[in-house]
Amino acid sequence: MRQIEPSLFPEFSSNRFPTTRYQGSKRKLVPWIASILRDLPFDSALDAMSGTAAVAYLFKQMGKQVCANDRLAANAEIALALIENPGETLTAQDLEQAQQRRPGIQYARFIEETFSGIYFTDEENRWLDVVAQNVSRLRNPYRRALLRFALFQSCLAKRPYNLFHRRNLELRLREVPRGFGNKAAWDRPFPDHFRHFAFEANAAVFDNGRKNRALGADALAAPGRFDLVYLDPPYLRRDGAGSDYPGFYHFLEGLCAYADWNKRLDRQSRHLRLRPDPDPWLSAEAAKTIFRQLLERFRESILVVSYRSDGIPSEDEIAAMLKGMGKRVQVFRASPRPYALSRNRASRELLLVAR
Ligand SMILES: C[S@@+](CC[C@H](N)C(=O)[O-])C[C@H]1O[C@@H](n2cnc3c(N)ncnc32)[C@H](O)[C@@H]1O
Repeated sequence: MRQIEPSLFPEFSSNRFPTTRYQGSKRKLVPWIASILRDLPFDSALDAMSGTAAVAYLFKQMGKQVCANDRLAANAEIALALIENPGETLTAQDLEQAQQRRPGIQYARFIEETFSGIYFTDEENRWLDVVAQNVSRLRNPYRRALLRFALFQSCLAKRPYNLFHRRNLELRLREVPRGFGNKAAWDRPFPDHFRHFAFEANAAVFDNGRKNRALGADALAAPGRFDLVYLDPPYLRRDGAGSDYPGFYHFLEGLCAYADWNKRLDRQSRHLRLRPDPDPWLSAEAAKTIFRQLLERFRESILVVSYRSDGIPSEDEIAAMLKGMGKRVQVFRASPRPYALSRNRASRELLLVAR
């Protein structure tokens, strides 16, 4: 029998979903999104660019058959832990073993040797080298993904701006009052963060009785047919500033592919990112083309698009593309409250529903 997650109704709570520090996460908007999607007729759903998997998790809570996909390997791991995982959780022993040097194993020191003085202290880099290698050796994909989830969140919590876009360890280590910014979180040792986030991940694991999937593909190549497809693409602002996700989160990608990290490193980049693939979401013309291709690819499904009112392509251009495909389009606008602290007050969160 299908289990429906009771905490969702009637107040659309997202309390069980772990805290996230991810650019463009819709976690805080989930109750609003849920209030719009609850009346749509669908049983299977694709979250095609799932990021933290916050919206895929909503679909799972609604009892749907869910596929969560993101081009970044780290996000596919998060979806494996929270969406595909039907019930595996971590034990205290899993956490302990992940952090211990095992006898007889020669540990590589890639992070310590490569990233010294860039993101974390030498002692922290040594901890990361051990945990990344121990976790990579785990056979159970769901427990491995849960440990990676805890590892990623621990890394993000200790980074200024929660990103890896600059080499700015000195900003974090500067003598400032502990209350300053996220100083307390930056100073908290890795093992404490790791335990905390593993606990949060464990608490989020549940089985909705469906066969859910996690994928790490390009959205255009995600296989399958779905009653509903949710698209939340990178935000390209009207002034041309885009969101360089591979540039922001390359370090987490490296943690997922420890053995190949060295080969994939872009030694020319100041912050030692991975060599980038072309990214259409960083250019206005390419973004319009890819948007159209995505809508065409999933035209048979109910299409739900998260968007910002000042994005490229514009709201009107997207609505016109959808109408051109014979769809009836409704546009919902979130109250500005979730972005009350945003510097960009003119930008409103939108949800386009096309049937
Ligand atoms: C705005 S974020 C999604 C946020 C997500 N809805 C959440 O709540 O966390 C956009 C995501 O698109 C992903 N992405 C960018 N290009 C992609 C592509 N071609 N295929 C799949 N995912 C892509 C990025 O890695 C990023 O995670």
